[in-house]
Amino acid sequence: MSINDACRLYSDWNAQDGIIELALENAGSAPLSGARLATTSLFRIHPECRIEGATLSGQLSNYHVFAQPKGEQLMPGQRWVIRADRLSHVLRHYTDGLKSAFLILADGSIAPVALEPMTCNHKAGAPRWEEIERHALPAGAAPLAVIPAVLQADVGGVRDPALPLVIAADASLAAQKAFSAVRALAARLFTRDEPLFCHGEGHAVSASNDPALHEGAYRIVFTAKAIMLSAGDEDGFRHGFITLGQMLRGARLRPGEFVLPETGTVDDGPRFGWRGAHLDVARQFYAMQDIVDFLDCLAWNKLNRFHMHLNDDEAWRLEIPGFPALTEKAAFRGIGEILPPLLGAPAGRTGGYYTGDDIHALVAHGAALGIEIIPEIDVPGHCHCVLEALPELRDSGETGIYRSIQYFPNNALNPAIEATWDFLAAVFDRLVELFPARHIHVGADEVADGAWLGSPMAAVLGEKLFGKAETFSLQSYFLKRVQAMLRERGRNTAAWEEAALGGGLEIDGVLLMAWKESRAGRALAAQGYQVVLTPAQHYYFDIARSTDWWEPGASWAGTVRLRDTYDYDPGGDWPEALKTQLAGVQSCLWSENLAMPGLFAHLAYPRLSAMAEGAWCAPERKDFDRFLAIQDLMPVSAKS
Ligand code: ACM
Repeated sequence: MSINDACRLYSDWNAQDGIIELALENAGSAPLSGARLATTSLFRIHPECRIEGATLSGQLSNYHVFAQPKGEQLMPGQRWVIRADRLSHVLRHYTDGLKSAFLILADGSIAPVALEPMTCNHKAGAPRWEEIERHALPAGAAPLAVIPAVLQADVGGVRDPALPLVIAADASLAAQKAFSAVRALAARLFTRDEPLFCHGEGHAVSASNDPALHEGAYRIVFTAKAIMLSAGDEDGFRHGFITLGQMLRGARLRPGEFVLPETGTVDDGPRFGWRGAHLDVARQFYAMQDIVDFLDCLAWNKLNRFHMHLNDDEAWRLEIPGFPALTEKAAFRGIGEILPPLLGAPAGRTGGYYTGDDIHALVAHGAALGIEIIPEIDVPGHCHCVLEALPELRDSGETGIYRSIQYFPNNALNPAIEATWDFLAAVFDRLVELFPARHIHVGADEVADGAWLGSPMAAVLGEKLFGKAETFSLQSYFLKRVQAMLRERGRNTAAWEEAALGGGLEIDGVLLMAWKESRAGRALAAQGYQVVLTPAQHYYFDIARSTDWWEPGASWAGTVRLRDTYDYDPGGDWPEALKTQLAGVQSCLWSENLAMPGLFAHLAYPRLSAMAEGAWCAPERKDFDRFLAIQDLMPVSAKS
């Protein structure tokens, strides 16, 4: 079979009966027999489902291999139909379906398969991604193209938008540093625009220190003769220059609507100290330039934390001295690799990892923009690929199978195995060496209930510590030991909300991310934890933007419309006494769907800006119509 006569694969979700149907059409000129159809998808077939038309000859999570019934021949033009009746979840979008497919022919060779988007109930259609419509600036809103909205603006007049912004010669060192960073940032983000910032002729901005202004805050005074920016720190100056750059860009691109003012004042500063964005670089690999571009977009939105999710069941992305198998084996997927192709990967080897030099470059890039990079190594769960690459970390006497929610079998690092701790020591040494962040994120999410219960070594440990082995008591033991390791290395622990289960962590210095729903954060704060709110129903950008079948994205947390992100009021339902424990907010972008070209930008933007406005502004400052009038001026990055 050649590329030219590739088989075509159709799929349909029968929503009434909960049945997935695959139909492989033989588009070639020869019969097909003894073949296996390999697919990756978002859905997973339940191990106990009934399958018609094939046998499931292999499965790992969302990678399925269907064997053609023995002796059957698929003649040219005929369809091989396969049905399965139990899936991991109800399918709601075409992106829940197949992401890549290929045939493993009887002789072991690979043949391509052309994939059609999955239909629902055989209704014809095609992907149609929702567009966000620009609205007119609401009456009474200040004509300033600034996102996030400023705290207070009382401005008038118009300055010539043709001229760039320049910094006055007597500016402080902190202000000059901030100016240089923002000038370079704007040049990278808006390559086709005339420069917003220059040295030489232009609107001179004099910049002076004002220690009375709190962290990240700034004040701009416009007079006919000058623009005066004051701030108490470099972050404040950077924010001020970004605001000026946004004003000028708006005035240039939409002169009837927006201005760089001639007179008046702007007073501004952030609501939360933690204004974050997370990216899952494990399930898909992101090139360095993709991450640099994303950091630039975060900075233009005045976000200051980048949470880098560096490992998951599907891949490990960071070079760790002494453990070459992690990057030689666990960073790549493909036929014949320790990880099969998953989540849109082709049959051949694909993947990648970050070297120490890569991380140094990212940390430096972030630091120049005021963005701290928080590394996450997700333990003890989500470690399928680690355990495949380092089988010595398994209890060889383990019996039985527990499965994670993503159907990875026995995927948790075992606290009863000494080699686990040697491995973690090497990992934490590396993280501390590479990342200056105060917090190291250790995951702790979604450990399967039942993990370790078939491990004789864990049974002995559980018996000794608690009188019996129990998953979440063992998890708490695991995480407290991890926390002690980080403390020895001078760092605090961050984790997802499940770290509080089974006895949790020593509360001092811990920051937990509440992701399942908003009220989880309040409960964690009541236990004494510092909290970052990342509720999936508002801030998970992998979730689809509308309910339309042909809108891409995941659906397990419902639908995250732009408005759901924008209107979320972090901590709005918290009692006053707990509010000091609300460190801030963060969006999350999980990558299951992100092998699809163009999808990154569609999912991330402009919801990122909507979240950024909530991270920066008190709710009474927010105005969705105003946001809609400006959001399309904000930069967008992509995944290559
Ligand atoms: C998570 O979404 N599992 C933190």
